[in-house]
Amino acid sequence: MHKVLVTRAVFEPVVERLRQHFEVDYHAVDAPLTPDELVKKLAGKAGALTMPTDRIDAPLLAACPQLRVVCNSAVGYNNFDLDACSRAGVMATNTPGVLDDTTADIAWSLILASARRIVAADKWLRAGHWEGWKFKDWLGTDVHHATLGILGMGRIGQAIARRAAGFSMRVIYHNRRRLAEASERECNATWLTKNELLRNADFLVLMLPYTPESHHAIGAAELALMKPTAHLFNVARGGIVDDAALIEALQARRIAGAGLDVFEAEPELDPRFFTLDNVVLTPHIGSASSATRMKMALLAADNLIAALSGDKPPNLLNAFID
Ligand code: DGY
Repeated sequence: MHKVLVTRAVFEPVVERLRQHFEVDYHAVDAPLTPDELVKKLAGKAGALTMPTDRIDAPLLAACPQLRVVCNSAVGYNNFDLDACSRAGVMATNTPGVLDDTTADIAWSLILASARRIVAADKWLRAGHWEGWKFKDWLGTDVHHATLGILGMGRIGQAIARRAAGFSMRVIYHNRRRLAEASERECNATWLTKNELLRNADFLVLMLPYTPESHHAIGAAELALMKPTAHLFNVARGGIVDDAALIEALQARRIAGAGLDVFEAEPELDPRFFTLDNVVLTPHIGSASSATRMKMALLAADNLIAALSGDKPPNLLNAFID
């Protein structure tokens, strides 16, 4: 029987499923292992169900020569050095598809919260400042009939776009590869260059994977192109936005607001974020509904079971292994 590691706390049914196939070392603590602890725990393991907080890189792979597969419980896999995995002959998998709608919902939560100043108003009310209804209090920005911009139009970007129909919005997007006509029609979305997108969006959502090419895709120069009334949202990965440049733009009101679920050095946030009343902050909860997190972990388990049974895992990332 193969030995596998579950690197941190997941749901019991997932561990049970794995126990039907493997000898499971379950690290049932909801905190990341250090790189050294991870190497030690992986000794003698053929596979691992990993989390986005586990770095799988060349030094780790060299120290764990028996490892054959790593299965991330996330769609993003920037915690994997995929080239190093491929060089070491280690299969790598992720969990695409099952979290699209849940992540699209968090983007919309942030859009509405930022446009209508929900979090700041809630704090103000709880602090006892409300003396009565005022005609000009807490004026926000309309979402309906505004222009939604999406940078990165994969499955989640498209799910975000489809929701815009209910708000009678114009949808514009930029993606390296333009969508097929039928998908553009279904999303009611128009392709623009990145700079046109930046200039025209009232609400700009970033939905790119984090790669060396997308590092600081939004920095001072890009923020300068945006409308002063625009709001920016990142529900993809920290590092796509230059956080320092965004803070300066928000402080100077060069853009009106932002909603962020991910940060460059998370969980450490630049403390200047906490002084701003025009940003809504959430702690990387984009896919965090009970049902979706269960689906993600079960899909990661399915990938692990397939890989170590000699089948092609459904969500294999390495291009060369078939
Ligand atoms: C993902 O799946 O990449 C999410 O960010 C993890 O919550």
